[in-house]
Amino acid sequence: MLLSEIKNIFHLELKDLYPKAEIDSFFHLTVEHYLQLERFVLVMRPQFTLNKEEELPLFEALSQLKQEKPVQYILGEAHFMDMVFKVNRHVLIPRPETEELVRWLLDTGQNRSVFNNPKIKILDIGTGSGCIAIALAKNLPLAKVYALDISAEALKVAKENAKMHGVSMEFLQKNILDGKKMDLHFDLIVSNPPYVRESEKTEINNNVKKYEPQGALFVSNKNPLVFYKAISAFAKCHLDLGGSLFLEINQYLAKETVLLLQQQDFKDIELKKDIFGNDRMIRAKNGVKNQCSKT
Ligand SMILES: C[S@@+](CC[C@H](N)C(=O)[O-])C[C@H]1O[C@@H](n2cnc3c(N)ncnc32)[C@H](O)[C@@H]1O
Repeated sequence: MLLSEIKNIFHLELKDLYPKAEIDSFFHLTVEHYLQLERFVLVMRPQFTLNKEEELPLFEALSQLKQEKPVQYILGEAHFMDMVFKVNRHVLIPRPETEELVRWLLDTGQNRSVFNNPKIKILDIGTGSGCIAIALAKNLPLAKVYALDISAEALKVAKENAKMHGVSMEFLQKNILDGKKMDLHFDLIVSNPPYVRESEKTEINNNVKKYEPQGALFVSNKNPLVFYKAISAFAKCHLDLGGSLFLEINQYLAKETVLLLQQQDFKDIELKKDIFGNDRMIRAKNGVKNQCSKT
């Protein structure tokens, strides 16, 4: 069958589910992944033909796309900070907003000479695929990076990604909500924790609700800042004085999250919007010296 015919089938079969540009993108990602063909092959060679064996994975991908499975899970990979990461149903698909958080952290570090001591210690809480921790380790080769998650399956994926990108780091399986101290101190703590309220589920696309790990996304309506409370308390205890905390946040709870950090004695709290104009991230400095609560 002609490759152009398969493209038409993708559009026909998926037109009720996704916008045209997204279907184009699915088609090209799939063709690149399974057949190692560049995007422009159809322009250069409109008569490009596939045999049955070559067609098969494309039609298999199409049938999964019709079930609203995210293309990243179908292909087993996602792009983040110009790098490719393995993903599966145990880890969140890395988002562009999170990439903005990492870039902000790297820019801040350069501007404030935080990286003058290249051997800084960094902790990523809720590492998932490891995208934040690994991107930081790649950009700061002398830093000691720790990646923490409650999920053993997520840590397995993060370890594979670290190996694939040739970076070494420490992996910690821990429940950040347990309030337990660790015998470690950090210069930087970064986190993109679960923050979507159950009540916001109606705004979330089906493919996210059906396939992405619920424990990575959702929090209760009653206690939506549960992770920010735990992370800020943990950071007060484990960040060195003047150390920085970088958080991705729920755009609808920006004021409340800032207030929480103020109450925890964090200083120089700054809120930043993402490219869509939503309040999406916060940076703050630890204003107290290793102040740990009793637990
Ligand atoms: C929003 S995802 C972020 C994943 C990744 N850092 C990213 O930005 O793509 C949140 C992560 O927090 C982890 N998580 C959920 N509850 C946790 C807990 N109680 N303690 C530690 N990690 C937790 C989930 O397994 C998930 O990997």
